[in-house]
Amino acid sequence: MRTLFIVISIVVVVVLSLGGLFLNSKIFLSFIVIIPILALGLWDCFQTKHAVLRNFPIVGHARYILELIRPEINQYFIESNTDGVPFSREQRTIVYQRAKKVLDTLPFGTQKDVYEIGYEWLNHSLKPVEVDMKDLRVTIGGPQCKIPYSASILNISAMSFGALSANAVMALNEGAKMGNYAHNTGEGGISSYHKMGGDLIWQIGTGYFGCRTEDGCFCPKQFEEKSKMDQVKMIEIKISQGAKPGHGGILPAAKITPEIAEIRSVPLGKDVNSPPAHKEFSTPIGLMEFVKKLRDLSGGKPVGFKLCIGKRREFLAICKAIHKTGIYPDFISVDGGEGGTGAAPLEFSNHLGTPLTPGLIFVHNALVGFSLRDKIKVISSGKIASGFGIIKQLCIGADLCYSARAMMMAIGCIQALRCNSNHCPVGVTTQDPELVAGLVVSDKKQRVANYHHETIESVAEMIGAMGISRTEDLRHWHITRRVGPNELKHYGEIYHYLNDGDLLKEQLPADYARACKAAVAESFDHIEDISTRL
Ligand SMILES: Cc1cc2nc3c(=O)[nH]c(=O)nc-3n(C[C@H](O)[C@H](O)[C@H](O)COP(=O)(O)O)c2cc1C
Repeated sequence: MRTLFIVISIVVVVVLSLGGLFLNSKIFLSFIVIIPILALGLWDCFQTKHAVLRNFPIVGHARYILELIRPEINQYFIESNTDGVPFSREQRTIVYQRAKKVLDTLPFGTQKDVYEIGYEWLNHSLKPVEVDMKDLRVTIGGPQCKIPYSASILNISAMSFGALSANAVMALNEGAKMGNYAHNTGEGGISSYHKMGGDLIWQIGTGYFGCRTEDGCFCPKQFEEKSKMDQVKMIEIKISQGAKPGHGGILPAAKITPEIAEIRSVPLGKDVNSPPAHKEFSTPIGLMEFVKKLRDLSGGKPVGFKLCIGKRREFLAICKAIHKTGIYPDFISVDGGEGGTGAAPLEFSNHLGTPLTPGLIFVHNALVGFSLRDKIKVISSGKIASGFGIIKQLCIGADLCYSARAMMMAIGCIQALRCNSNHCPVGVTTQDPELVAGLVVSDKKQRVANYHHETIESVAEMIGAMGISRTEDLRHWHITRRVGPNELKHYGEIYHYLNDGDLLKEQLPADYARACKAAVAESFDHIEDISTRL
């Protein structure tokens, strides 16, 4: 094509020049269009970076244009109601409909294949009850907490200002205030945009942003001052998140504006490291002591931690540390490997971290097995967007839920998949002021409050249809799954649910024995590794 293009270019220029000279001088006007095209084609031929353009000058650009609009073409013309990733069109549509309070019913019956393996449903009752959605609250705060928090069963999961725009944070927080639910700050600290009056869960990550000494360690003085703000209702230590467990990050100096520097308590003009692990603790007992330290400094507010399950032994070591120290975290947030992020390496998102269902059931079982379940609330997150999504979590092991991406959709996210590029077309995950201006806080705060309200209402109606009036009465046998063409199982038959105290007995359940014996409160390491080092 390259040689052909050069030949054609020469022929075109010669023919048009002769035509202009001998036939009609107006023919020269066509050079206004022809010359830029030929110049682009020649640039394509002689540049060295793109083979497609060198070999197919001009037409090769079509590939880049199509590649650019591929997600849109896929979303608008190709995907069906039940496909589309990470959230299907059906899941997105229900969020938009509830956020706008428009018709959210389905005509003509389900489009799902109810005979497909993996199809799940809730078991309704012949004796339905009426449930008041206002009763669907969960009190968080164990025996050592002085200021328990009455939480909604659906709250906004951690997303920092920085990952989200200022307008997005404001809309989320104002929505949380209107709907009386909580908003997790994300690890980037509490910004002025979070201070719209909505309840806050202040997340403390490995960078200790907002309560950080100059050398990147935890600063008790700053923490004490901010945690005592009335708006801060709970504190969450972030150990890991499902989309990128164990992955640290660097905040480059160029991105640190005076505003960010103030919010995060970091210096201007220097790269800031957010390491993969905490500096304040390195053992399970250390984690418990940090929980206590934060609870004491905050005046007794609920303190918990967030993690995605990796090595089971390490979580069992935490349970042993709780017993050994007598320090109870007030809540544990379990994030699934399918969780979202602003940006993460592909391999981390695709191949690290236990998915939510097995991760959550394991955490629930470990707490039950160590007789801790009544003292610690479990929050789950991972693609929860509907009433069914919430109820499933509450059946299989959670007390309440978080949602990040459905909340983003409620304030206008269209799943354009540009969160990592600063080009989010709807102003949710960008800092570009032109794009941020597109997100009108006064409109979107109402939408996110609507979405929350309608979703909780759907939970109330569904559990009512199941004959259950309190979410704490939901059990794993209330949800059934098709596991074979002619085989149905409830979750208690698919997963092994432990009985209270099973992991404190001499005879351990076979599927937990190895990990449990290897776990020690003093270290995250394998007990055999420790003994060989001693
Ligand atoms: C834009 C964005 C930013 C996030 N930032 C954080 C964060 O700062 N800290 C954290 O623990 N998780 C963060 N997450 C993960 C979410 O809090 C949540 O755990 C995960 O997305 C699963 O919930 P979802 O499936 O409802 O989105 C972020 C997610 C997104 C989409």
